[in-house]
Amino acid sequence: MADYVIAIDQGTTSSRAIIFDKKGSIVSTGQKEHEQIFPKPGWVEHDPLEIWRNVQEVIGIALATADLTRHDIAAVGITNQRETAVVWDRTTGKPVYNAIVWQDTRTQSIVDRLAQDGGVERFKPIVGLPLATYFSGTKIVWILENVEGAREKAEAGDLMFGTTDSWVLWNLTGGTDGGVHATDVTNASRTLFMDLETLEWRDDILETFGVPRSMMPEIRSSSEVYGAAESSSLLRETPIAGILGDQQAATFGQAAFQTGESKNTYGTGNFLIFNTGEEIVHSKNGLLTTVGYKLGDQPTHYALEGSIAVTGSLIQWLRDQLGIISSAPEVEKLATTVEDNGGVYFVPAFSGLYAPYWRPDARGAIVGLTRYANKGHIARAALEAVAFQTRDVIDAVNADAGVDLTELKVDGGMVANDALMQFQADVLGVPVVRPVVAETTALGAAYAAGLAVGFWAGLDDLAANWQEDRRWESSMDDAERDRQLRLWRKAVEKSMDWVDDDVK
Ligand SMILES: Nc1ncnc2c1ncn2[C@@H]1O[C@H](COP(=O)(O)OP(=O)(O)OP(=O)(O)O)[C@@H](O)[C@H]1O
Ligand SMILES: [Mg+2]
Repeated sequence: MADYVIAIDQGTTSSRAIIFDKKGSIVSTGQKEHEQIFPKPGWVEHDPLEIWRNVQEVIGIALATADLTRHDIAAVGITNQRETAVVWDRTTGKPVYNAIVWQDTRTQSIVDRLAQDGGVERFKPIVGLPLATYFSGTKIVWILENVEGAREKAEAGDLMFGTTDSWVLWNLTGGTDGGVHATDVTNASRTLFMDLETLEWRDDILETFGVPRSMMPEIRSSSEVYGAAESSSLLRETPIAGILGDQQAATFGQAAFQTGESKNTYGTGNFLIFNTGEEIVHSKNGLLTTVGYKLGDQPTHYALEGSIAVTGSLIQWLRDQLGIISSAPEVEKLATTVEDNGGVYFVPAFSGLYAPYWRPDARGAIVGLTRYANKGHIARAALEAVAFQTRDVIDAVNADAGVDLTELKVDGGMVANDALMQFQADVLGVPVVRPVVAETTALGAAYAAGLAVGFWAGLDDLAANWQEDRRWESSMDDAERDRQLRLWRKAVEKSMDWVDDDVK
């Protein structure tokens, strides 16, 4: 009997395989980090072959840890870092270049060029996104223009593009030997190429970008059988039946299925998703319009999204680049060696600022420094920046929705940080709620796959699995909150207008 579903979570910092039971509880996990490659300021790359090796390895770890085989697994779900672009040769199966990661800013000149005719919002009414380095479309263009021979091969139909869901799916289903080249609607909605209404690639936009349509994967729903794992895989013959981009997967894993429900995930970056049901809502306040999920032939669910580029990665930066902590959880201890931020504010605009500002000309800034400030204040300001950035996004959501969120459902690696969660509740002035299963990204992908094969009967089954673990209430008075927000917004101003044409 197949009593379990496995989710592959191909994230920005690591790949995980997690096995879930029918209650949505974790049975076992395999996890492996991959190298973050920073060739130049603003450039971020991953090695797709390392990622694929890690995915295979973590599947093995998860199965072995729980002493299970493929016969115990009803379906495979895939979730992934979203806008990260892989381009590979369909004959050799080899990537023509490293994966260009979503945070990478190298394509700003491509964005500027495309924006000359009609501005950065020229495609927004169709695709829901402004032109920005963040999305995968501009990264494909960079590869075609900068990797020797890529343009010719692409025109000849020899190259494939995919976000890492497609890369994993294609390899898992046989690669050069009949691999399935597909993606789901949520990932497709992050490329700049998909029409939100028709859920199809727009030939006119592909042409404007100079991307041959033959490179593009087929767009499928988030929950259906795409194919089966190939014969040499530990999961051979198991159906791959769910794909959701990581943030949409987390929303699904939080069982936020109803219009008006939302979640905020604290991982490498932070991503707040607000479900707008079957309606496509265009933000007036700097949010993206994106696909939430689509189950088989059922109607498409849309969402508004507030994407923040740098949150958990700021903690990694304190650890790896600054060396003031030796592990991420240590930041909490360091931040609580001081009683407040000492007037220090840290705007981590490492990739410019995403939502709700969308300012590629911003760069990171630590302001308010005096001789008094120490590393405790820096650590504290870094944690507080995560909460302040979230506050800015929630203000945008409230303004778009016309009603205020009454509580915030949270998940992701950083929600283990008690000081951060308390400060988050303080600067929002509403409660912050954490579920028992904080691995909602993997859970959402498992749900999508399990639904497609009848492992779960419907959304009610999934909603019944959701359980509250902990809740933080605001303990900050209004005057102090207003003072803090005023200073934070002043700091944000200081980070802007930094990048001139000759700033590398
Ligand atoms: N106790 C903690 N306090 C603060 N930050 C933490 C803590 N534990 C983990 N983090 C941060 O959380 C992030 C990891 O969270 P998570 O595991 O959700 O990310 P992820 O899923 O690997 O991200 P992605 O999917 O983007 O790869 C890391 O960036 C790490 O710096
Ligand atoms: Mg993740």
